[in-house]
Amino acid sequence: MKGIILAGGLGTRLLPLTKITNKHLLPVHKEPMIYYPLKSLINAGIRDILLVTGGNHAGDFLKLLGNGSEFGLEHINYTYQEGEGGIAEALGLAEYFAGNDRICVMLGDNIIEKNFVQAAQDFIKQPSGAKILLKKVPDPERFGVPILDGDKVVKIEEKPSLPRSPYAVTGIYMYDHTVFDIIKTLKPSHRGELEITDVNNAYIDKGELTWNVLEGWWTDAGTFESLLKASNLVAQTGANRMD
Ligand code: G1P
Repeated sequence: MKGIILAGGLGTRLLPLTKITNKHLLPVHKEPMIYYPLKSLINAGIRDILLVTGGNHAGDFLKLLGNGSEFGLEHINYTYQEGEGGIAEALGLAEYFAGNDRICVMLGDNIIEKNFVQAAQDFIKQPSGAKILLKKVPDPERFGVPILDGDKVVKIEEKPSLPRSPYAVTGIYMYDHTVFDIIKTLKPSHRGELEITDVNNAYIDKGELTWNVLEGWWTDAGTFESLLKASNLVAQTGANRMD
């Protein structure tokens, strides 16, 4: 399975910090934010990784990560997203990289306490389709929220004002290569973006979406509150633990 980190966007929720750098280069405790999803993918056994970035500071990723030798990698692939077309549009740029392989996508501002080795192994055994990782949170209205019927996800609602379950859809997604055909059918949402939630709903419609609950804490780091929370959690317990 190949890995893709989505680290574009303008990070407007973190202005003025993001006026002079990319959100994913900001510090989370002692390391730049981007280190965390990179280590998460590596911990899941993924070695072939593409970083999709954008905005005005994309060159700084090269300076910081180079070819990934600090992380035990031989090479890191990079690509550039023009404009602000959303997470699913950024993922569409990875089509040439993915080929016919399966992919594990992680949003560059998602930070986890442990790892998702088990979920990745489960997904490899799945004949086709997609897998998402869910986490119970106190504020699901900030995220994609699944509607569950028994143990089936029947729909995902993006930032619903009245969440229908206490779970967030985390920014860790596993897809087969048909994801790129799905992306080509998407229409922009009311915020003018191609939504990853629409991709996941397309897999639900095909009856091909499975889910696991992510172990350990999970947070995004794209707002002032969550950025502070992320730093505090990392300081307290460490991140990307393999236990
Ligand atoms: C995005 C997704 C959302 C998901 C979240 C996880 O939201 O649209 O479904 O729950 O990432 O971090 P965004 O951070 O772009 O608002």
